[in-house]
Amino acid sequence: MSRVLCISGPNLQLLGRREPDIYGTETLEQIHDRLKARGHELGARVETRQTNHEGAIVDWIGEAPGAFEGLLLNAGAYTHTSIAIRDALSAVALPCIEVHLSNLDAREAFRRRSRIAPVCRGRVSGFGGDSYLLGLEGLVRLLGGR
Ligand code: DQA
Repeated sequence: MSRVLCISGPNLQLLGRREPDIYGTETLEQIHDRLKARGHELGARVETRQTNHEGAIVDWIGEAPGAFEGLLLNAGAYTHTSIAIRDALSAVALPCIEVHLSNLDAREAFRRRSRIAPVCRGRVSGFGGDSYLLGLEGLVRLLGGR
């Protein structure tokens, strides 16, 4: 069974009431429940975490090897700024799928640049909470599961 760590970054604890026209009405807890259930069907154990702190994301990525085979990461606004998160992903070399609820390419210009994209295996963006599920599907395939 593959072990997957799903990390969500700043302000994603507000999902459900945060700009619902952009991010939808599903809460992060509801997305996490769906992820775990889908993971079970796919033969993956999914652990879910959220933090508003860049350093915590860096810590969790650094600690992941040995405990997890792959990462799902919605780094929120740090996507566009964080060289530290990018370096952590490079350092651990675990397959990571970049996830976003909104379609970054259809929004403000500053959201079109992702600092982490070059060190991720792929990206799912624009499908609301389903982006996490679709990312998990892709990651499990990469990991050689079903
Ligand atoms: C986001 C997109 C980011 O640009 C934004 O800062 C977020 C959420 C998304 O899931 O669509 O916080 O990562």
